[in-house]
Amino acid sequence: MKTVTVHASNTYDVVIGGGVSALLPARLKTLYPGGRVCFVSEDRVAPLHLSALETAAKTAGIDTAHYIFPHGERSKNPAVLLSLLEFLAQEHFTRKDVLVALGGGVTGDLTGLASALFMRGMGLVQMPTTLLSMVDSSVGGKTAVNLDGGKNLCGVFRQPALVLCDLGYLKTLAPEDFADGMAEVVKYGVIADAALFDRVKDGVAPDDLEDVVTRCVEIKRDVVAADEFDTGKRALLNFGHTLAHAIETKSNYQISHGRAVAMGMVRIARIAEAFGYANEPCAGRIAAALEANALPTACPYENKALFPLTTGDKKCAGNSIALVLPSKIGDCLIERMPISRWKELLSA
Ligand code: GLY
Repeated sequence: MKTVTVHASNTYDVVIGGGVSALLPARLKTLYPGGRVCFVSEDRVAPLHLSALETAAKTAGIDTAHYIFPHGERSKNPAVLLSLLEFLAQEHFTRKDVLVALGGGVTGDLTGLASALFMRGMGLVQMPTTLLSMVDSSVGGKTAVNLDGGKNLCGVFRQPALVLCDLGYLKTLAPEDFADGMAEVVKYGVIADAALFDRVKDGVAPDDLEDVVTRCVEIKRDVVAADEFDTGKRALLNFGHTLAHAIETKSNYQISHGRAVAMGMVRIARIAEAFGYANEPCAGRIAAALEANALPTACPYENKALFPLTTGDKKCAGNSIALVLPSKIGDCLIERMPISRWKELLSA
C-alpha cells in the first residue's frame, strides 16, 4: 500500500493498493465524525462493490444511503446532477455529511460537483474503480457535468478529503476499460517522466500496477500543487485532450475518453513534429506505446471537422488557445497561440 499526500486547497491522502477500500469506515469516522454517508454510483459498478461498502459502514455505526444512476458519459449532465441534489434534500442530508463517489470518471466528476453545490458544500471522498479515474480524474479536484455545448463545461474545483484507489477493483474491469486508463498512464510518461514511459510502453504487469499508479498520482500531485486552478502548468495534464474532447463530442460519446485521448495525443504529437516544436521525433513512439496497450491511434475524423469543436474548449481564451506539444518523451511545452495559427496547424 502507498500513500501520496496532495497539498491543494485542502490536504488529503490518496491511498493506493489492493484492498484499501477496507479503510473507508475508519477514515470516514475520523474525517466526518457523526456524519451520514451517501454512496453515489452507477448501475454497472454498484452491483459489484456497493453492498460490501455499505455493510462495512453500517457495521461501524455509520448511517448510509445510496444514489444509483445509469452508467455512461450521457449521465454526466445537469439533469442527473439535479436529481442527485433532490435526492440528498429528500433524504435530509446536511453539510456535516459526505458523498462517497464509487465508480469511474463520470461518477467522480458528477459527485464532486454535487458535493460542492449541496448546501454550498458537503464532504467528499473519491473511490475510483477504473484505472483512468485512479490515475487522473479522482485526484486534483476538477468536477463537472457536460452541457450540450461541450464536455465539462459546467463545473467547479472541489478537492476531496480522501481518495481510496483499491487496485482490487481493477480485476472486475473490462479489458477495454483498463486500456482506456493506460492512455492517461502513457500521457504521464510523455509529459513528465521518460522512465515511466519506458516502463509502460509494452504494457503493465499486475505486480507493477501499484508502483505505476502511484507514480502517475505523484506527477499529478506535483502539477496540482503548482497550479491547482488551471491557470498555467496544469494545462500539461491536457496533453492530447483538446482534440480528444472534440473527438468525444463529435462521436456523440461513442468513442470513450481514453481512446479519444490516445488519438488526440498522436495527432498533436505529429503536428508538433511537423511544425518544429518537437526536439526529437516522438509521435511514432507514442503511437507504438498506445497500440501495445490495446488502444487505437487512428482518428476517424478529419481535422477540419474537429476544429470548430476545439474552439469551444476551456483551453481557449479570447482569440487564443493553449496547446500542449511534446518536445521529447518526458517533456512538453505549453504554447499559447492565436486561434488562426491553430487552424493553420490543423489544416496542414
Ligand atoms: N484531467 C486534467 C486535470 O485534472 O487537470
